[in-house]
Amino acid sequence: MFGLKSNLRVGLDIGSSAIKLVVAEKHGDRHKVIGALARDLYTAANEKYDLDGPKKGSVVPLVLDMFREAGVKPKRVAHLGSCLSGLNMATKEIRTLNMPDDEMASAINQEARKHLPLDGSESLVDYQVIGDDPREVDKLRVLIAVTTKRMFDAHLDVLRELELKPGVVDLEPLSCLNSYIARHELPDEGVICFLNVGARRTNLLIVGRKDMYFSRDLPVAGWSFTEDIMTRLNCTYSDAEEIKRRQGITAKDIKTVDASASGGSLAASLALSDKAPLEKMYDEINRSIRYYVKETGQSGIMKFILFGGSAASQDLCDYLAQRFSVPVESYDPFEIMDGNPSVSNPPQFATAVGLALRAHAIY
Ligand SMILES: Nc1ncnc2c1ncn2[C@@H]1O[C@H](COP(=O)(O)OP(=O)(O)O)[C@@H](O)[C@H]1O
Ligand SMILES: [Mg+2]
Repeated sequence: MFGLKSNLRVGLDIGSSAIKLVVAEKHGDRHKVIGALARDLYTAANEKYDLDGPKKGSVVPLVLDMFREAGVKPKRVAHLGSCLSGLNMATKEIRTLNMPDDEMASAINQEARKHLPLDGSESLVDYQVIGDDPREVDKLRVLIAVTTKRMFDAHLDVLRELELKPGVVDLEPLSCLNSYIARHELPDEGVICFLNVGARRTNLLIVGRKDMYFSRDLPVAGWSFTEDIMTRLNCTYSDAEEIKRRQGITAKDIKTVDASASGGSLAASLALSDKAPLEKMYDEINRSIRYYVKETGQSGIMKFILFGGSAASQDLCDYLAQRFSVPVESYDPFEIMDGNPSVSNPPQFATAVGLALRAHAIY
């Protein structure tokens, strides 16, 4: 069939605050990006940010518009990668004895239910063997991914409405990680902490070549900074978003911008609450790392690599580098592709790039 032979790969990332679309051509084992678009949801003047995630009714027209702008017809896409993000999903590494496939599947299912707290509805489990256990002969390292049927069906429903044929459906933390490990070696010794700092939550991943994979969702991300600005300035979501992107996540220079409107007492209160969400983020990351170090005996994190829209913030990178005394890198996923998409916020596309790389047809 014509579509199956097409070398077009599409990564679609429907996030909590923005939709990201990456269109690439596959040539051998290289990918050339031919389009990368990001569109914010909730841009109308008085629109509120929906903490429960965007509704199908607002997602579908926006995605269709993005496909139009990219010059791609959804119906013709034969190789799509898309992902689930948000609640009711988890990824975890377990170490288990090697066994035949069917036994492995049932053992993993049992393990997954034991380790991964979900919403009580039917769970979907997938797994991948990632190698031998360097510590115990006969044992394998297995990465399991689990979500609920309800989450999965809701995603398929959106794809159906877009007239997109489902391809690979990943979980967001793994898709953004994939944009890195597809072309970068992990360190032989030690671990990297990846942070996908989106709007609603931050996916924290700790990954090394030999050490245990660890993943946790942190409740502090881009929205926390926006909400802080909204409270401090008593302004709308869209105004706070604009201020944040222009002035930095702590909007620390806001006094000079709004001095005449805000008055002295507000300026004083701004100085007091400046660092609250950043410190909250530090505490959450630190707690996860300490837990990981305790569980694994690892000596610590070698560096941070940041994905997601908030990774564009130099303030965030500088703050983490200073607090943890390790290098912090905001990742440009397009460095592993040919072509230059000239986007304003490269790390925001990590998930969509990871998905475009994984996109293949399932018929
Ligand atoms: N230049 C910027 N500086 C700081 N934060 C930014 C910038 N650009 C976008 N963001 C923030 O990034 C977040 C969106 O990132 P994204 O990874 O697309 O999130 P999601 O996948 O949850 O929709 C929003 O909170 C937005 O305010
Ligand atoms: Mg996201």
